[in-house]
Amino acid sequence: MSDQSMPARPEIEGLLLESRTFPPDPAFAARANAAADLYAEAERDPEAFWAARAQDEISWFTPFGTVCEWELPFARWFVGGELNVAYNCVDRHVERGLGDKVAYHWVGEPGDTRTLTYADLQREVNRAANALLELGVRKGDRVAIYMPMIPELPVAMLACAKIGAAHTVVFGGFSAEALADRINDAQAKVLVTADGGWRRGRKVGLKHHADEALASTPSILHTIVVDRLGDGCHMVEGRDHWWADVVGRQSDACDPVPVESEQMLYLLYTSGTTAKPKGIVHTSAGYLLGAAWTHRMVFDLKPDDVYWCAADIGWVTGHSYIVYGPLANATTGVMYEGAPDTPDWDRWWEIVETYGVTILYTAPTAIRAFMKQGPDHPAKHDLSSIRLLGSVGEPINPEAWLWYHEHIGGSRVPIVDTWWQTETGSILISPLPGVTTTKPGSATFPLPGVAADVVDAEGRSVPNGSGGYLVLKRPWPSMLRGIYGDPERYRQTYWSRFPGMYFAGDGAKRDDDGYLWLLGRVDDVMNVAGHRISTIEVESALVDHPSVAEAAVVGKSDEVTGQAIFAFVILKAGQEPSDALAVQLREHVAYVIGPIARPRFLLFTPDLPKTRSGKIMRRLLRDIAEGRSLGDTTTLADATVVDTIRDRTGGTED
Ligand code: WTA
Repeated sequence: MSDQSMPARPEIEGLLLESRTFPPDPAFAARANAAADLYAEAERDPEAFWAARAQDEISWFTPFGTVCEWELPFARWFVGGELNVAYNCVDRHVERGLGDKVAYHWVGEPGDTRTLTYADLQREVNRAANALLELGVRKGDRVAIYMPMIPELPVAMLACAKIGAAHTVVFGGFSAEALADRINDAQAKVLVTADGGWRRGRKVGLKHHADEALASTPSILHTIVVDRLGDGCHMVEGRDHWWADVVGRQSDACDPVPVESEQMLYLLYTSGTTAKPKGIVHTSAGYLLGAAWTHRMVFDLKPDDVYWCAADIGWVTGHSYIVYGPLANATTGVMYEGAPDTPDWDRWWEIVETYGVTILYTAPTAIRAFMKQGPDHPAKHDLSSIRLLGSVGEPINPEAWLWYHEHIGGSRVPIVDTWWQTETGSILISPLPGVTTTKPGSATFPLPGVAADVVDAEGRSVPNGSGGYLVLKRPWPSMLRGIYGDPERYRQTYWSRFPGMYFAGDGAKRDDDGYLWLLGRVDDVMNVAGHRISTIEVESALVDHPSVAEAAVVGKSDEVTGQAIFAFVILKAGQEPSDALAVQLREHVAYVIGPIARPRFLLFTPDLPKTRSGKIMRRLLRDIAEGRSLGDTTTLADATVVDTIRDRTGGTED
């Protein structure tokens, strides 16, 4: 990993001086699911603690023996146990009489709605599982899913789980190329997709991207296509099947296939510090336990709650906190297809009012976007049903925290700032509502059973009041089991920086009271609107364009999206910089990776600052992008380069 300089969060320093705290409301605490003694119980014997939770949360077909086999860095949890994740998320609730309880209130962007009870979900999942069986999918196979936020998406995931197949969901905003890479890495047999979906009042096609991807994915034998838009689309005879046909004609009974605890439940690709995304492997029992238990504790879930996680299921937040955690807890959830500003900026608040949402979980980038539109939009609606708010995906700045608290939470409800990652599977650092006194901008403390620490460059725990690197010192049930097909890369990426510890890639600070403050990534990963994007992935997409000789990409801080992508581009000899070419290059990145990776700023430069060993000095580029005064440049091979670039800054902006 190059250039691990610690990111700064000046607003934290200011806030630490102010040190406002928010103790739990006694009335909330009296009814809270979590209790303070959980921490001590977990510390006394972490394995016994998790074993007890696994017995409570999961319905087992065969009880487990060993709680955890740990051969660093490889873990196996609840060894010998057998379960079925879909059975745990759906069937068992119907069996105990909850068939009529709503699983999802789904809202389409154009205003169409659907309500799925647990009995409906069971029928749909069984039919879809039978369709996968008809198309040749068996236990252990992989199924790719590339869909908008429609009910068939969780149904397809659960259908895989029902028959012991693994899914890999590819966010609908990714390009054909990104989809093809993931399908090929996973060697998926079937692709479940849709003709398209609605976004910002427009129909956005998906199937044509899928078709383009499928030209280079020989492992895919069949596709299932949901008709969301009703306009028809290109279908390949024998390969492509409409959902309504192939799922519609199946029996609505399907026995859950028992799988071992360590059977792969899914793969989810995430950006690392190289151009090749990593297939993060999650298995069945430990993952389900992590998602279900944290969902109930951190969100204080009660049977009558109406819970809305406004993420996209294409990211891990949606996997754990729209699908597996909430469904394992028989939650009534809300699922929304579209954009927060369509038709207007009060769309979310209208949904909260309509369904009486009690718990809302979203990302700071969304909160900051709402902040920018002003408090009038939420003020138009009755938000009094809300009793808890959550934040995830990036550091929440204290200002956004306080705005969320006041304008969405009516200055009366707890906020849980939850830190976790695709790799951790479930929330690891968060307040427990009703127990923890919060500070705006701090994720507070590790959850019970979680051994998180902040260490210095030598791996020594830092004292209160200092910053360092966030690590995990003990395995946890929902941890990733590896990078698909690449155990060495797994060891190298997460377990080599600090021997014996999982290095999360984040910087963190522990304040004088021991509270944790996440400071952002310390590697070459950007966080744009809560989405992880590797600088190197964007650079290789740029270099893939015929006019580009070299590119360097950094994150520039942004008021709304946290970071924005800033690209420095060196053209090949004979190519002339122009605004038109800048637009073309940005579009090229959107085409290769997906619109989320399109650089916001692009600057043509004749050269890049490099160390004498030839490494690009991203720290300097970050300083240039931010317009900061430059620090030490003595390691720079050619110091005039920086001045040349600086003279040009401004660049072209979207
Ligand atoms: C960042 C999303 C600060 C962090 C669940 C992490 C956060 C990366 C927080 C994982 C938080 C997530 N405060 N930073 N509450 N939550 N992050 O894999 O940098 O998409 O490493 O998982 O998001 O992003 P991922």
